[in-house]
Amino acid sequence: MADAGDPMIPRLFRAARVRRELHDVVTLDLLPTQGEPAPFRPGQFNMLYAFGIGEVAVSLSGDPNRHGTYVHTVRDVGAVTGAIARLASGAILGVRGPFGTAWPTEDAEGSDVVIVAGGLGLAPLRPAICAVLANRARHGRVVLLYGTRSPRDILYRHEIERWRRRLDVDISVTVDHADATWRGNVGVVPKLVQHAEFDPLSSVALVCGPEVMMRFTASALLEKGVPAERIYLSMERNMKCAVGLCGHCQFGPAFICKDGPVMSYDRLAGLLAVREI
Ligand SMILES: Cc1cc2nc3c(=O)[nH]c(=O)nc-3n(C[C@H](O)[C@H](O)[C@H](O)COP(=O)(O)OP(=O)(O)OC[C@H]3O[C@@H](n4cnc5c(N)ncnc54)[C@H](O)[C@@H]3O)c2cc1C
Ligand code: FES
Repeated sequence: MADAGDPMIPRLFRAARVRRELHDVVTLDLLPTQGEPAPFRPGQFNMLYAFGIGEVAVSLSGDPNRHGTYVHTVRDVGAVTGAIARLASGAILGVRGPFGTAWPTEDAEGSDVVIVAGGLGLAPLRPAICAVLANRARHGRVVLLYGTRSPRDILYRHEIERWRRRLDVDISVTVDHADATWRGNVGVVPKLVQHAEFDPLSSVALVCGPEVMMRFTASALLEKGVPAERIYLSMERNMKCAVGLCGHCQFGPAFICKDGPVMSYDRLAGLLAVREI
């Protein structure tokens, strides 16, 4: 927790900008009504509080080097995310955080970096991509593999196109279901791992998406020779306190709010194999 204040008390933030990404997804730029926001590390999350409705965990999705603003990308799946997705520019909401562990972008210096995202899982990975590209010379190959349900569900489409114009990032996008306009890959994202070019033994893999996608992706990475301790997943569990007090986010012996959300696969593999944890 980087903020010196009480981690249980939300600070007031204003939605300075709200932009629609997809039919059910918005990105908000949040500015504190007073003072500076605490810095965050790629992979961390905030608790966003829609007044009178409730509080939910949402990952930071902005560039960690852009100080002063928290960027969050939110999919409307229920009561609180729906209320946040309907906020207009200028609206006030409560923010606690940043909380949790980070993608190991600094440990990945000198290594190939393989980033695998499924659906909205690209949002928590976006700060890591920004950090890696800001230090591009310090890494080997940088590979981004991204899968969505359909072409109309591609998040940050313009930014992916911009990253693709660079000649130092290998980007593959796949969709589960193509439409008449789609000329790219069709199939699930773990299949892209097989054909991607990187040095498995010297790679660090960062994976975020639905749990089933992360399990199959981790298996594909292991099969290719990436060591389990160099594969990192971002876990989601229901959160309440976000500081390791209430037990809501318990996952076996771990609390996802403080031991995660980013955890290495050697710690997770056994737990992911158990149903109903
Ligand atoms: C560490 C962490 C980071 C997260 N980062 C993000 C993020 O960057 N952006 C984001 O949009 N969400 C993110 N989430 C998920 C977000 O917290 C949940 O979607 C939210 O808690 C749902 O609350 P709600 O009140 O809107 O829905 P509820 O009213 O609680 O749920 C409504 C219905 O939606 C279902 N549901 C709940 N969560 C999800 C889900 N994730 N996907 C599909 N269906 C769901 C429930 O089963 C229920 O049927 C993150 C969660 C965690 C733990
Ligand atoms: S959310 Fe309370 S212990 Fe993790």
